[in-house]
Amino acid sequence: MKRYFQKINSVKGELNFAGDKSISHRAIFFSSMAEGKSSIENISLSEDVKSTQKIFSQLGVNFINDKNKLIVVGKGKRKFNAPNSFLDCGNSGTTARLLSGLLIAQNFPSELIGDESLSRRPMKRIIEPLTLMGGNIESVNSTLPIKIFPSNSLKAIEYTLPVASAQVKSAILIAGLHLSEKTKVIEKFITRDHTERMLGLPFNESENLKVISSSDKFYPTAKDYFIPGDISSAAFFIVLGLLTKNSELVIKDVSLNPTRTGFLDILKKMNADIKIENEKQSSNEPYGDIIVRSSDLINVSIDSSVIPNIIDEIPILSVAGIFAEGDFEIRNCEELRFKESDRINAICENLKLTGLEVEEFPDGFRVSGKFKNIQGSFNSFNDHRIAMAFSVLSMLIGNECTVEGIECVGISNPNFYEQIEAIIN
Ligand code: S3P
Repeated sequence: MKRYFQKINSVKGELNFAGDKSISHRAIFFSSMAEGKSSIENISLSEDVKSTQKIFSQLGVNFINDKNKLIVVGKGKRKFNAPNSFLDCGNSGTTARLLSGLLIAQNFPSELIGDESLSRRPMKRIIEPLTLMGGNIESVNSTLPIKIFPSNSLKAIEYTLPVASAQVKSAILIAGLHLSEKTKVIEKFITRDHTERMLGLPFNESENLKVISSSDKFYPTAKDYFIPGDISSAAFFIVLGLLTKNSELVIKDVSLNPTRTGFLDILKKMNADIKIENEKQSSNEPYGDIIVRSSDLINVSIDSSVIPNIIDEIPILSVAGIFAEGDFEIRNCEELRFKESDRINAICENLKLTGLEVEEFPDGFRVSGKFKNIQGSFNSFNDHRIAMAFSVLSMLIGNECTVEGIECVGISNPNFYEQIEAIIN
């Protein structure tokens, strides 16, 4: 589906976002694994989280919608029902990878599949450590579909992550919850820490290294969760608020987990007027309100250590960067090539359509020059974050820019366009 955009001059208003996608996935995992009734308030409305929920229904977990809460009747350790067909992870890498860690410890076989994009994404990164743990996994090209068989020789491992990935870290830690010995994951770059926060896992942080342990002592129990708003969905609105004139947005109760707010720190360094108010905590996850006002941005250098923290925000940060004074350059983010699309290439191809000078590197890109052709017809590459980033760019340029393939926005935020309409001033 193609969408035409008019220029947006100013935005104003208050926004509430449905629950953070990463935290919602984990709340469904941990409440399904726990025995008995948990509740989840403000669950993500994303297609990805629906994929996770559907799989746990296939495994025998009962979900009941009760007003604004999702009641989850969890099965308890190793008590899931054996599925009678494929477990379809849809577009969701988090579902496929975290689930693999859980399934190697079950006493039934299972098979994970995904859509075209997910079936292209690398799974070697989880197959390798989970096999070291004694997991019994079969896959033809280290991609989906993967088959997982019961194993009677699971063991704890100590594993240094070769890629900065919270999904890989979480898959190993979730498998470790089924073992009495300690499984340890060592990170050289800090990635999002929802798994360790929500399970209360012990960790040690020393110079540039974080060691997180899990064991059956930390197997989840039934809980009531409140999921803070999705900061990665809010990111698109924050950039729209900064780059339009006379704008002010108040974003309520949004996640402020420090492993997710790197992009706010970068924007502040770029001279963005962003304030945080009403800071609170729930399930060990910080959240609060963000107030954003129109700002004149200046590009700054982006340190490699912050990349895992801003990985999902790079498409929209690039939009901020091309309107900021000076050239925009981002490097050390080769991981972007393994997301829902090759995001480095997707961003570069789209930006080239506007006449900006774009230099693509294996690990990033650089943008300079001025817009020449401002009637871009952009492509979403069937990737929700590319679709939303280039929708925002189109609204900033106006001139009837279009984005082809916008239906994928539902992967993270099905209300994206309605929320934009509601704040136009
Ligand atoms: C996620 C981790 C990140 C992120 C993804 C969600 C998670 O992926 O890009 O959107 O919930 O753990 P990687 O762990 O592969 O970097």
